[in-house]
Order: sequence, then structure tokens, then C-alpha cells
Amino acid sequence: MSTQAPIRRTTVPQIRARKGVDPIVSLTAYHAHTAAIVDKYADFILVGDSLGMVMHGMDSTIGVPLDLMIMHGRAVVRGTQRALIVVDMPFGSYEESPNMAFRNGARIMKETGCGALKLEGGARMAETIHFLTERGIPVMAHIGLTPQSSHVMGGFKTQGRDEASWEAHIADARAVADAGAFALVVEGVVEGLADKITAAVAIPTIGIGASVNCDGQILVLEDMLGLNPWVPKFVKKYGDLGPAIERAVADYASEVRTRAFPGDDHVYR
Ligand code: KIV
Repeated sequence: MSTQAPIRRTTVPQIRARKGVDPIVSLTAYHAHTAAIVDKYADFILVGDSLGMVMHGMDSTIGVPLDLMIMHGRAVVRGTQRALIVVDMPFGSYEESPNMAFRNGARIMKETGCGALKLEGGARMAETIHFLTERGIPVMAHIGLTPQSSHVMGGFKTQGRDEASWEAHIADARAVADAGAFALVVEGVVEGLADKITAAVAIPTIGIGASVNCDGQILVLEDMLGLNPWVPKFVKKYGDLGPAIERAVADYASEVRTRAFPGDDHVYR
């Protein structure tokens, strides 16, 4: 019999209770081994639909299929033990009706073992958020720059530059919080608006390109590691893995070409 207490994952109520306490750390992860590293430091890990762009070379998140989210979600759950795992509902899997959202959401939860889902949209998604949370699916909401609506927004544009639009964004935040969302991603909005949204709701706000005063922060792992050829302006790079990978690949290619690879230490005899 094991004498060690099992490691417990961070729960949805624990994340919700962090409002105004200490900052919530989160990152995206899309594969088991990088997720295991992130798991040592993050309170929650998002399997975001940005995986379509940073892993699969798509030019937006709109083409990401449900099965792909499930496949990466499973890998991340397998690779982790501590963090709450949140999986994005991809475009077209939830907007049509609360019933559709529940059907697809339940499938993601059953097939990945994740602890919560994220979906994009403010007041227009409130009914769906209420429907899901009443039926056992915890929901993280996502407002401001919502990439699945990039065609409507005319691109990946910072929101709230015009102060006249702030009330609508704040109303979105209040609507999703009242509907039962346990946390709220605030993406790509001007700092003053992000601060007002954080003050307006009783659930934690998770900023990305928003404000240091949000209750937590999230970045896309490949962006902050320098693994993406294009990254948004607001992203601080904490690593520069692209050139490091290129150096390793170039060294390998040169050794193969000069017959220096595999070398004595790397062959079975
Ligand atoms: O898909 C994603 O990576 C996200 C983050 C930008 C919050 O939704």
C-alpha cells in the first residue's frame, strides 16, 4: 500500500477563490512533455485553439476541429498531475445552441479528462454558460479580442481603443460572471479597460495583452519561447528556442553529410 498522499489537481473553486488574492499563473500547452514542465509552475494549463496556428500552421483558429482539441487535450492531461486543465471549445462547436454546446462539451470532458472548458463571447454566450455550468461543466469565458470572431472584427485588433466601447465590454464581463463562469480571459484590450473589467466582476480575470492588474496572466507557450515566426507585439519572449533548434538541426545535418554521425558512442555493437 502506498504511504504517499495522492497529488491533487487544482480545482475550479480554488481558481475562483484566487480573485484579488495572489496572481494566477497560466500558460498554454499542447503536448505531454512540455505540459509536464509547465505543470510544475502553472495553476491552470489551457489547451487553447491557438494550437491550430502555433502547432499546425493554420492562419487563424477558425479551422480547428473538435477532434484535434480532444487529441491534444488528452496528451496534456496525460502529461500533468497538478494544474487544472482547461480545453478550448473550437469555433462551430458551441455557438448554435446550449444543447449543442453541452453535447460537444461533455464529449471533450469525457474523452480528455480535463477539468473545465473555455469558450469565447460575452453577453451573447451567457445563456449557454448558464446551461453548461448548471449541468456540471465549469466554464472559463473569454472576452475582448476573441480570435474566433476575427472576420467580424476585421483582424486581430486591440479592443477598447475608443472609450465609448468600454461599457459594452464591461457588460460582457458582468454577463458571463452572472451566468456562472468561474474565470474570465481578457485578451487584447487597452489597459484602462482591463482594469475596469477586473474591478467590475467577482471572478478572476486572466489577462493576455491586457493589464498587469488582472488577477492572473496567460501566454501561449510557443510565443514566449520564441518558437513562433510571428508573435503579437505584447508578448515578452522568455526564451529563444527557434535559433537553438536550428543550430541543433544544422549540426546534425552537417555530421550526417560528412559521415561523422552516428559516431562511436552512438552505435550498437
Ligand atoms: O487559444 C488560446 O491560446 C487562447 C489564449 C490566447 C487565451 O485562447
